[in-house]
Amino acid sequence: MTLLFQCEGDTDGSMLQALRAALPEQQIRRWPDEVGRRDEIEQAVVWMPPEDFFDGLTHLTHIHLLAAGADQLLSHPGLPPSASLLRLEDAGMGDRMAEYVLYGVLHAQRRFGDLAEASRARRWARDIAVPPATEHRVGILGAGVLATLVARRLVANGYPVACWSRSEKSLPDGIRGYVGKQGLVSMLPHIDTLVCLLPLTEATHGILSAELFAKLRPGAYLINCARGGHLCETDLTAALDAGQLTGALLDVFQREPLPQAHPFWQDPRITVTPHLAAPSPVAGSIEQVAANVRAIACGGELSGIVDRSRGY
Ligand code: NAP
Ligand code: GLV
Repeated sequence: MTLLFQCEGDTDGSMLQALRAALPEQQIRRWPDEVGRRDEIEQAVVWMPPEDFFDGLTHLTHIHLLAAGADQLLSHPGLPPSASLLRLEDAGMGDRMAEYVLYGVLHAQRRFGDLAEASRARRWARDIAVPPATEHRVGILGAGVLATLVARRLVANGYPVACWSRSEKSLPDGIRGYVGKQGLVSMLPHIDTLVCLLPLTEATHGILSAELFAKLRPGAYLINCARGGHLCETDLTAALDAGQLTGALLDVFQREPLPQAHPFWQDPRITVTPHLAAPSPVAGSIEQVAANVRAIACGGELSGIVDRSRGY
């Protein structure tokens, strides 16, 4: 089997080296300098493949994505229609995402934004009321691989947590589930911090909007660590100006890197991070890709299958 590896972020070659070590029996070619005959390539491991990447890959059966979110790959104009797509499931990202979200939730619950402002003004702000974790309700949009791991960490830290999904699911103890459009309407009015961990699809594009913000508890906090396309950026600024929201922690943006002139950089109510909430770890990612390559060879069970019709 011949496999083509494409990951421009793998600057030190550690991912490719780990993949070759995990699959010594496979022929692994590095894009772009080792592509060779394109019709010999049966599988590809990709991060963000360039526009002409799939040209001539006429025998491609499986594409292994080195990321959890498949939105960019699904919108690739050259994506072969019949190849199976496999994404990363956790692969060690859940722990990193849980740290990121826990930081944001603590920031909101302990009112560190207000305390920092008071500190800059040399104000001894004993009037800033800080509710206990048990009274700060967190709502997560999504109840998938990462949302569940994040929810567990928050529950372990004393927060009441609710997750919202498309389909009914059985969630770990202490996590309340809400389903579908009506479920979202029921969940939002109770939420102090809202976390977005949805895939970007036609149905979820722009979901973080004025309409949604208006349903949250007044003064709620927003954490978006999924995709920039989920957020209507001008609606966020309007909700902050109106006091409907008190702040936001944003890891993802409609345009990345966030343009220099973007108003979010200057807004003290918004914390901008450069899409690093949960990078794909080398060991976990390669372990998953290699397990799937082996499973394909022997007809075993695959993990991370992307359902093209659902969009995730
Ligand atoms: P996942 O396992 O596929 O989970 C997605 C969840 O979203 C599922 O619970 C799904 O519901 C729910 N969902 C999808 N469409 C919905 C809809 N229309 N209404 C309600 N719920 C809906 O995905 P994951 O592995 O947890 O990853 C989530 C996202 O995190 C990725 O897609 C990616 O965009 C983002 N991410 C960001 C970073 C970063 O560093 N910032 C890192 C990794 C991932 P069902 O359970 O009913 O299907
Ligand atoms: C990162 O954003 C990912 O989807 O893995």
